[in-house]
Amino acid sequence: MGRDAMKTHDQLSAHQHEIANLDLRDLIERDDRAATCTFEHDGLLVDLSRHLVTADTFDLLRKWSRERDVFARRDAMFAGDPINTTECRSVMHVALRNQSDRSMRVDGQDVMPAVRAQLDRMRSFVSTIHDGTWLGWTDKKINAVVNIGIGGSDLGPMMATEALRPFHVRGIRSYFVSNVDPSHLHDVLEDLDPESTLFIIASKTFGTQETLANAKAARRWLVEALGSDQAVARHFVAVSTNASRVESFGIDLDKMFTFWDWVGGRYSMWSSIGLSIMVAIGPSAFDALLQGAFEMDEHFRTAPAEENIPLNLGLLDCWYRDFWGCASRVSLPYDQHLRHLPAYLQQLEMESNGKQVQLDGSPVGSGTAMVVWGAAGTNGQHSFHQMLHQGTTVVPADFFIARRPIGDIDDGRHAMLVANCLAQAEVLARGRTLAEVTNDMRAAEDGDEDIKRLAPHRVMPGQRPSTIFAYDQLTPQTLGRLIAIHEHRVFVQGAMWNIDSFDQWGVELGKKVANTLLPTITGEQSGTGDATSQRLIAFLRNGRSHSSS
Ligand code: F6P
Repeated sequence: MGRDAMKTHDQLSAHQHEIANLDLRDLIERDDRAATCTFEHDGLLVDLSRHLVTADTFDLLRKWSRERDVFARRDAMFAGDPINTTECRSVMHVALRNQSDRSMRVDGQDVMPAVRAQLDRMRSFVSTIHDGTWLGWTDKKINAVVNIGIGGSDLGPMMATEALRPFHVRGIRSYFVSNVDPSHLHDVLEDLDPESTLFIIASKTFGTQETLANAKAARRWLVEALGSDQAVARHFVAVSTNASRVESFGIDLDKMFTFWDWVGGRYSMWSSIGLSIMVAIGPSAFDALLQGAFEMDEHFRTAPAEENIPLNLGLLDCWYRDFWGCASRVSLPYDQHLRHLPAYLQQLEMESNGKQVQLDGSPVGSGTAMVVWGAAGTNGQHSFHQMLHQGTTVVPADFFIARRPIGDIDDGRHAMLVANCLAQAEVLARGRTLAEVTNDMRAAEDGDEDIKRLAPHRVMPGQRPSTIFAYDQLTPQTLGRLIAIHEHRVFVQGAMWNIDSFDQWGVELGKKVANTLLPTITGEQSGTGDATSQRLIAFLRNGRSHSSS
């Protein structure tokens, strides 16, 4: 860290000590709160009023971000510079949703013609599925699409497909298989008719063990049912960057949709990895998804620091991680259709920023990615919210809530959903003091003995920060905006910590070790793995007690 950045860091530390003594209840009532802490972008409201910050906090955080050159790094990303330095790659998922006529260059080459060509291929293919000109091997119309992929080749498409359920094209059901646990594919196939099922094998590398094993099992299922290897051509398409592996798997290249090494797996739902999304919602809704993301790219690229939503969100994350010691953040969509959002954000943030060294290989010297977790509200209220309210750990929370649900399904329950969402944020921030609890109990005519015994259990500490993301309806455009905000928020965190947010070396060793253990597990070899693994393998192979070996 440079000297100036160090100074600002020290100032922020001192400022944190001052803020820690302020009551969030008072902060919330301050007149400047709406001006300094709420951000509106074309119907999307991001409310940061319930954070442990003052206007000075934002000033200091923005100063710190100037010293860390966050905007310069952002500009480098948009310019196609190889900012993924450990893999020498550009990071250009923003090109996938570029709706302007600006060129986007990687290695001096405008990638937009190739991006548009792939989108066109996807649109034509999806139209043939929808209008029934693409038929299965026995000439049946396709009515089920199974995306087989894992990580970024699953979580984004699955999250978005479920989020946009009200926009689904009728007559096609979408399924997602990721886990190599045979039960996953088995349970999905149980309900499907091979004659009308299409498989999308989605893998950037086309080398991922789980995906290939599931794809082979799906192919066996299909060929056994339809009685011919040739059926594969009508029931399998691939999405990948690796044409030769797709071909050796047995999928013709005219059934392959491609993308590029400058699209990270967890940033790839906008590419042909989003084929399953497009099949589910149709090409024009997919365009709206891209449009929403593009709007946020433009906002991130051009809005000044004071108004820049991803910048301020990312800075707040660093504020809590670096200065308050918060190790986790909870994502609480009060929107059933966004129930897979926490899992999606988990990969986005934790795979991107779960790093320990800076770009030059030296230690980061602070915490990095928070643990991101969560579940849809109101369900979480009847489960883990107890810990959020009264546990000993402060967990900043993100709430997501729509102004109105899609379609004609409301009978007053949406108002309950809104009330619960806002109530949770309010209670987290304000809490309930011992005096208030005591007064309430007196008013309820509880005896002194009971008050003494029970009041401490009812005290809520408050001072627990949260963000509200409020939007009109969860449309494709809104979803595009929300996801792009989070991609850029993660980018800002990474830039502040000076890490490479776009590699994932940490997952490689586990894959290698699994491959060395496999022959011992299948019995083809013996003795791989450490002593504990070997005892466990003996137990799992033979049912022998693992302590008796
Ligand atoms: O193992 C992690 C990872 O490499 C993710 O980054 C990626 O999204 C996922 O595996 C799947 O990779 P692929 O799309 O190449 O199958």
